[in-house]
Amino acid sequence: MAGSKPKIFVIYYSTYGHVHTIAQAITKGLLKTNTVDAELFQIPETLPADVLEKMHAAPRANVPEITPEKLTEADGFLFGFPTRFGVAPAQVKSFFDATGKLWSKGALQGKPAGLFFSTASQHGGQESTAYTFLSHFAHHGLVYVPLGYASPHMFDNESVVGSSPWGAGTIAGPDGSLQPSVMELEIAETQGEKFAQVAVKLFNTAAGASVNPGAPVPAEVPDAAVVPTDVPPVAEEAKPEPVSAAEAAPVKNNAQADKSAAAAAPGGANPQDVPKKSSLMENLIAKLKNAFSSK
Ligand SMILES: Cc1cc2nc3c(=O)[nH]c(=O)nc-3n(C[C@H](O)[C@H](O)[C@H](O)COP(=O)(O)O)c2cc1C
Repeated sequence: MAGSKPKIFVIYYSTYGHVHTIAQAITKGLLKTNTVDAELFQIPETLPADVLEKMHAAPRANVPEITPEKLTEADGFLFGFPTRFGVAPAQVKSFFDATGKLWSKGALQGKPAGLFFSTASQHGGQESTAYTFLSHFAHHGLVYVPLGYASPHMFDNESVVGSSPWGAGTIAGPDGSLQPSVMELEIAETQGEKFAQVAVKLFNTAAGASVNPGAPVPAEVPDAAVVPTDVPPVAEEAKPEPVSAAEAAPVKNNAQADKSAAAAAPGGANPQDVPKKSSLMENLIAKLKNAFSSK
């Protein structure tokens, strides 16, 4: 691992090419840092050719298609897609629905992942698309890395600028005639750079192996590195008190936990001795009444 760079996959779906262009700018930003390796992939199309023709879809770019198994080769991901009714397109959902085997092994656990977008209009749902997609990350244990306000362009209110703290983006226009602007491409590049910083930190973490239990243990890690032999012995007086059976017993619910706590309390406090919430409230009301009547 020493000297090696994390491998980041930029994975996109695009019908008309806008997200593809943003994906290229993000890849440029990643590579600019010279700290990560980056590869570009596209998500397989699921719509039939005649439907795509009616939609005037652009020809597929000459970019390799991602497979679920391929995901295990990467140390981090940036996923990009156009908005469909404020959420991710079915093509992206279909791809993620095919990742159940990886999920069952925790194969992506602890790897960083970011998002980027394209919408027809400024308020077409770039943020809702990100927000509603996070469930996929959560279930896979992927660590979401937002863009934040990493670029000054994001404060530009003079022009139409895609992107949000959730990720880079472009505004394609209602007929798709707008192309990613210079500002949008710069924001995308910045996302690549910022994402690389986080990915490198995670990759270099000594605890990387335990962060990602699904990953194979590198062959060069000796057993001795896992179980340190030079840990000083714990002094007798520093050892914790033995735990009573009542404390150690697993509790099923809060009611049982309350009973166990009372039984284990010093002096064996009786549950009846513990003031009830209702009597505390009665006392408080009585005190308030007294306070007002004495005025
Ligand atoms: C079925 C469908 C639903 C769409 N829903 C939205 C939407 O909710 N908001 C929006 O701004 N654009 C919407 N669009 C426009 C797409 O987001 C736009 O075509 C896309 O951003 C262009 O990106 P691409 O060139 O990478 O495909 C929709 C397009 C289609 C075909």
